[in-house]
Amino acid sequence: MYQNLLTEVSEGILTITINREPKLNALTIETIREIYNAVNAAQSNDEVAGIIITGAGPKAFVAGADISEFANFTVEQGTHMAQNGHKVFNAIENSSKPVVAAINGFALGGGCELAMACHIRVAAENAKFGQPEVNLGIIPGYAGTQRLAQLVGKGKALELLMTADVIGAAEAQTLGLVNHVVAADQLLAKCHEILGKIKSKSPMAIAKVIDCVNTQYRKDKPGFDREVELFGQCFSTEDFKEGTTAFIEKRKPSFTKVNDVLSH
Ligand code: COA
Repeated sequence: MYQNLLTEVSEGILTITINREPKLNALTIETIREIYNAVNAAQSNDEVAGIIITGAGPKAFVAGADISEFANFTVEQGTHMAQNGHKVFNAIENSSKPVVAAINGFALGGGCELAMACHIRVAAENAKFGQPEVNLGIIPGYAGTQRLAQLVGKGKALELLMTADVIGAAEAQTLGLVNHVVAADQLLAKCHEILGKIKSKSPMAIAKVIDCVNTQYRKDKPGFDREVELFGQCFSTEDFKEGTTAFIEKRKPSFTKVNDVLSH
């Protein structure tokens, strides 16, 4: 049914597994579209009381948006990519059924953003988190600039976004980025345990809790729109071309110097 996802319903829980293990489950536009369809379909499926999103294999949850796909995008395509990503991740955040991210390895860039769009995050001990977009001459485009600050606070978010530091599961838990850290072989069991508790409550009340909490962080705030605009702008820059080309060529990028940027 899906090209890039595996889906399975067991005891009322839909597990969506992003299934591009050779590419560390990097998110193509088509993969994002399939996630949107799977989450939307679950909303009207009476057999589904909760959703788990995870990645295939032992190494990665999602290693980011697929760099090879967007490396030649124009400003228009980049802007559309961000708009589309916002739509999909907002649909996850606004799901009336609880969504838990089972983070089984790298959650970088779009992977960290996907995890942050979920209601609850459970990480395996080997999970790693980061927003490394500035290494590529871009910024996060799937609301990472907004949700990271919501979860860990402005100061730490700015540090992570500007240094591109990759942090481990224990630090992510200390920062409030993840709810729980468990052994890798306990990851799905822990997610089922949490959703099992939620499943026994009133679905009507759960949907209203999600709605109320999200209302405080409404997506129509200007920061979300500004991210889309500035993400798109990145696609006309030399740094974007150099950053993505360097990743594909497996070398370090050589970015423009500060004064070159400031003089433009
Ligand atoms: N987009 C496209 N392909 C990706 C990818 C991404 N975000 N992340 C990993 N891949 C691909 C690699 O190109 C490689 O493909 P290949 O075998 O055809 O060469 C494969 O997945 C395995 O990745 P590799 O880099 O060889 O694994 P590693 O263990 O050496 O490094 C990472 C793992 C996660 C540190 C590294 O893959 C990485 O830095 N990925 C990009 C992270 C990123 O910048 N994400 C934000 C994107 S906006």
